[in-house]
Amino acid sequence: MLPGWIFSLQNLALLDLTNCYISGVNPGTHGGFHSMPSLTTLRVSGNTFMNSSSLLSGLSSLSNLRFLDVSDCDISSPVLGNLQNLSLMEYLDLSNNQIVEEIPKSLSNPCNFTTLDLSFNKFSGNLSELLERFCECESPELELLDFSNNYLIRQLPERLGKLKNLASIHLAYNKLTGTIPDSLGSLSSLVLLDLSKNSLTGFVTENHFANLTALDTLRVGDNKLVFKVNVNNWIPPFKLSKLSIGSCSLGPQFPSWIQSQTNLTELDVANANISDTIPNWIWTTFPNLSSLNISHNNIQGKLGNVTFFAPGASLDLSNNHLHGTKDEDDDVDWILVILTLVGLRVGFWVVIIPLFINKRWRNAYYHFLMKSGSSFKISSFCYSM
Ligand SMILES: *[C@@H]1O[C@H](CO)[C@@H](O)[C@H](O)[C@H]1NC(C)=O
Ligand SMILES: *[C@@H]1O[C@H](CO)[C@@H](O)[C@H](O)[C@H]1NC(C)=O
Ligand SMILES: *[C@@H]1O[C@H](CO)[C@@H](O)[C@H](O)[C@H]1NC(C)=O
Ligand SMILES: *[C@@H]1O[C@H](CO)[C@@H](O)[C@H](O)[C@H]1NC(C)=O
Ligand SMILES: *[C@@H]1O[C@H](CO)[C@@H](O)[C@H](O)[C@H]1NC(C)=O
Ligand SMILES: *[C@@H]1O[C@H](CO)[C@@H](O)[C@H](O)[C@H]1NC(C)=O
Ligand SMILES: *[C@@H]1O[C@H](CO)[C@@H](O)[C@H](O)[C@H]1NC(C)=O
Ligand SMILES: *[C@@H]1O[C@H](CO)[C@@H](O)[C@H](O)[C@H]1NC(C)=O
Ligand SMILES: *[C@@H]1O[C@H](CO)[C@@H](O)[C@H](O)[C@H]1NC(C)=O
Ligand SMILES: *[C@@H]1O[C@H](CO)[C@@H](O)[C@H](O)[C@H]1NC(C)=O
Repeated sequence: MLPGWIFSLQNLALLDLTNCYISGVNPGTHGGFHSMPSLTTLRVSGNTFMNSSSLLSGLSSLSNLRFLDVSDCDISSPVLGNLQNLSLMEYLDLSNNQIVEEIPKSLSNPCNFTTLDLSFNKFSGNLSELLERFCECESPELELLDFSNNYLIRQLPERLGKLKNLASIHLAYNKLTGTIPDSLGSLSSLVLLDLSKNSLTGFVTENHFANLTALDTLRVGDNKLVFKVNVNNWIPPFKLSKLSIGSCSLGPQFPSWIQSQTNLTELDVANANISDTIPNWIWTTFPNLSSLNISHNNIQGKLGNVTFFAPGASLDLSNNHLHGTKDEDDDVDWILVILTLVGLRVGFWVVIIPLFINKRWRNAYYHFLMKSGSSFKISSFCYSM
């Protein structure tokens, strides 16, 4: 229980009760946040006592409140209606609550918001309508927008490019449709774009990335998007560390612009309608790669050395037509097998003799060694003889 005297601290500017797991206010307490006019910052994440109409309406009268974190507070929709008057608010975190609503009324005047996190709720409104409100602002301040894991519908507004300060857009796991507006390409502060797991359609071209010089993470996988770069030898303006565009249509050629992304740690182009020979650069270009997924394509050609992986890395080459050539099987496989066996128990020769005889077993054994000798999660990739 929250002791009632807290509300008498008239000069308190900052109150942080994060994860105190307080579920109610002491009975008999009169007053609420309205009697704390100096409050500028309130962090009450992880406290269910905040699911209270009177406490939230008390916050609405605070003219100094700039920073409010009420994530994980079990707030329900009718209760949230009492949180209003947020025109001076800069930071609002309402993530992980029980809010089933179209667009929250509290966002009627969002021009001063820099951070808005409403992820993991059940908002079902029209995203376009919501973002248009930000676009109406003379100079929108918004830097971080997180509406991931909701039920938002409709599309990104054409005027998205007006939100010049946007650095992070998290809209994954919604029900967005329509195309990605070209104006996205003018968001030169954008560092992270995550639109994965929606139903976006249409072409993604180099125009969408025109001025995205700061982009570090691009995730637009699991949509119905078609990547179509019209410029030969296009070099993107960014150097990504994470690129996840699986289940989009990228093919038939392996997208050559990825070769410029030498800083990648994560690359997912699985299930992307690629029907091509694996480019040799894929094995040598990404020294810091720790996750590669090119599975579920029609990729042919020779496996290279996968020596670039960090510990705990993940490699998925499954459901393709990759193979090794005869000579290299013998050069590479046997050097590895013999090196690995030096120092092993003599009993292992019982295993080795049949391996000399049957090439199929030999390759299977090689992959068993790779699997067990390192922490790679190598999925059953097609390895023809
Ligand atoms: C909204 O804020 C203004 C000024 O800060 C205040 O006068 C008004 O009472 C507030 N409205 C509500 C519903 O709290
Ligand atoms: C929040 O409060 C409302 C109204 O008192 C109540 O109906 C709802 O069940 C509460 N939410 C949770 C998750 O307890
Ligand atoms: C933004 O906040 C400033 C004070 O920090 C205030 O004067 C201004 O009216 C607010 N803007 C809007 C659109 O409410
Ligand atoms: C969604 O919002 C946009 C922008 O306000 C509007 O043009 C469109 O008609 C809305 N769509 C629906 C279905 O409400
Ligand atoms: C990109 O930036 C350049 C120079 O700042 C500007 O001329 C151009 O209009 C911008 N393009 C887009 C699509 O924003
Ligand atoms: C896959 O690529 C082929 C061309 O190689 C194209 O005709 C087909 O429409 C693509 N499929 C999808 C789902 O994009
Ligand atoms: C790889 O990562 C290390 C440490 O994070 C960094 O210092 C180095 O610059 C990276 N290499 C490349 C080519 O990006
Ligand atoms: C490459 O990645 C490292 C570590 O993540 C980072 O420090 C460095 O700035 C990146 N380089 C470029 C060119 O983005
Ligand atoms: C690679 O991508 C495929 C298709 O999206 C997915 O089914 C698979 O789980 C991924 N592999 C790994 C190791 O995450
Ligand atoms: C693979 O790596 C081994 C040892 O580093 C090297 O001898 C061999 O030439 C490499 N093979 C290819 C195809 O790069």
